[in-house]
Amino acid sequence: MTSLDVQPLSEDLSFGARIGGVTEDALKDDAIRARINDVFEERGLIVFSNVEPTSTMHVALSNVFGPLKDHPSPVVSRVDNDSMPGVIDMHSKAGDAGVVELNGKQLASWLPWHFDHCYNNELNRAGVLRALEIAPEGGLTGFADGIELYNAVSPELRKRIEGKNILYKMDVIYATMRFGRPKNFAEVSVKPSAYDVNNAASTSPRALHPAVWTRKSGEKVLHVSPWMAQGIQDHEDAEGDALLEAVCQEINEKVKPYFHKWNLTDMLIWDNWRMLHSVSGMDPKYSRRMQRTTIKGDYGLGRFEGGGQGGKILEMTV
Ligand SMILES: [Fe+2]
Repeated sequence: MTSLDVQPLSEDLSFGARIGGVTEDALKDDAIRARINDVFEERGLIVFSNVEPTSTMHVALSNVFGPLKDHPSPVVSRVDNDSMPGVIDMHSKAGDAGVVELNGKQLASWLPWHFDHCYNNELNRAGVLRALEIAPEGGLTGFADGIELYNAVSPELRKRIEGKNILYKMDVIYATMRFGRPKNFAEVSVKPSAYDVNNAASTSPRALHPAVWTRKSGEKVLHVSPWMAQGIQDHEDAEGDALLEAVCQEINEKVKPYFHKWNLTDMLIWDNWRMLHSVSGMDPKYSRRMQRTTIKGDYGLGRFEGGGQGGKILEMTV
């Protein structure tokens, strides 16, 4: 077995690991694959540095963690190659719409804290992300650990939110973002594709996920996505809304994230059942191009309101 270079991502973080120089050949070794999966389960986030920057490697690395999930939505652009199912392509070009203003600064590619597929009953295991075009500044991807967040929120709020289910609906337009809006925030322009995504999901029922869940390890995870949250099940009233807003604002304030500054030879996986992620945004004069695979799976705790079926519309943002 080839040895694997595993390091903590940072000495002051309780999550995240860095693995250097993995090759496609090394990934054929069962022992290496098992070791990588153990690191993933334990640390929640792995940055793979100095890997070959190809779609073939992206898929080979993703397959270490499980089968890929394709994106059935016709509005999601993908890498057009039959051997690479589910590699989606996200390209924000200089001057494109999709700009927000935060604290007086205009930002493209900005995303609030969220977990992927919150609007689905099924919650994908992970996403594997790489950068094909990087802005000279900004455009960092942020990661926050739900285990840490569970311990970071005030005990009073934690007690009130634990046991509650959060309602989610696909909505990629910030004007209607209900919870956890940053202070001094405004939407400047909306991507035309955002309307397509919202329309495609308009007939889907809302999804429900627990605000707190317990991992196999016994650790509790605060798993609330401020983005796309609609309310608390059976508490869609002023009191429930105030509680959810307080929790989302605590997430914004108390989060101790890792922000990844991209290299073209990086690939990165995060545990979608544990971590929240976000994007710091960049000057709209820059371009940014990312590709993501989605690892199948489910933690089994999500469902659609009223036992309904979803429209299988998946988001296309990272
Ligand atoms: Fe995302």
